[in-house]
Amino acid sequence: MENKIRVSNLNFFYGKAQALYDISLEVPEREVIAFIGPSGCGKSTFLRTLNRMNDTIPIARVAGDVIIDGENIYAPGTDVVALRRKVGMVFQKSNPFPKSIFENVAYGIRINGIHTSKTDLNERVEKALHDAALWNEVKDRLNTSAFGLSGGQQQRLCIARALAVQPEVILMDEPASALDPIATQKIEELVVELKRDYTIVIVTHNMHQASRVSDRTAFFMLGKLIEYNKTEKMFQNPDDRMTEDYITGRFG
Ligand SMILES: Nc1ncnc2c1ncn2[C@@H]1O[C@H](COP(=O)(O)OP(=O)(O)OP(=O)(O)O)[C@@H](O)[C@H]1O
Ligand SMILES: [Mg+2]
Repeated sequence: MENKIRVSNLNFFYGKAQALYDISLEVPEREVIAFIGPSGCGKSTFLRTLNRMNDTIPIARVAGDVIIDGENIYAPGTDVVALRRKVGMVFQKSNPFPKSIFENVAYGIRINGIHTSKTDLNERVEKALHDAALWNEVKDRLNTSAFGLSGGQQQRLCIARALAVQPEVILMDEPASALDPIATQKIEELVVELKRDYTIVIVTHNMHQASRVSDRTAFFMLGKLIEYNKTEKMFQNPDDRMTEDYITGRFG
């Protein structure tokens, strides 16, 4: 089977500073891939290259290929709006819009004109909230402000908002790092649940989280991909000494 994402010889620059060096890696469909590595090693930068979120940074320059479903997303003429719909993103700090819970989830459906009727819109919002494991907690307060939710609920709302436009890939940049252990556990369970339907790439500083939720793990250091392996192998018997040192907490 063709892999969902194929990255080959990716180099990335902020102005003259190179942030990623010759990264090649493939992501199978419906797996969870964890990105780990010390602060500043390029995890977020790499994640953003997967849906061209770096386009918004004027000094950024990319060389190499990112192929998703057989198409090079950096090819001229790529519809970046459609790309970001297909490859959704959830950030470290939850960022709901200053709108109601309902409107946060409905937003992307509306601007993309996905729904066919008011009923269809309602159903899509409900489904996204269900899929983000939030429905039961908010079904009686859909028209109240999203800011009235707890941090963990706001993060799940942002996941619901991402799911509402029917993405195929979800990029998550430390989605649980600002949350308490219970809320973190909810997000982790959700990630495992979502992998039935989506391909997920998640950045985390939490080694236990990486080992709990991911099928494969990529370890980065100073902009280089040091090791990419099945998560079990990576945590039990890594090929590279640097991976072992990092995972066991000897540095980073
Ligand atoms: N907008 C930017 N302009 C210039 N340099 C940047 C920019 N964003 C990141 N960098 C630099 O690129 C390198 C990689 O940063 P990146 O944010 O990708 O690391 P990270 O692995 O996500 O780190 P962290 O774990 O702290 O989030 C760092 O040296 C960083 O200073
Ligand atoms: Mg980061």
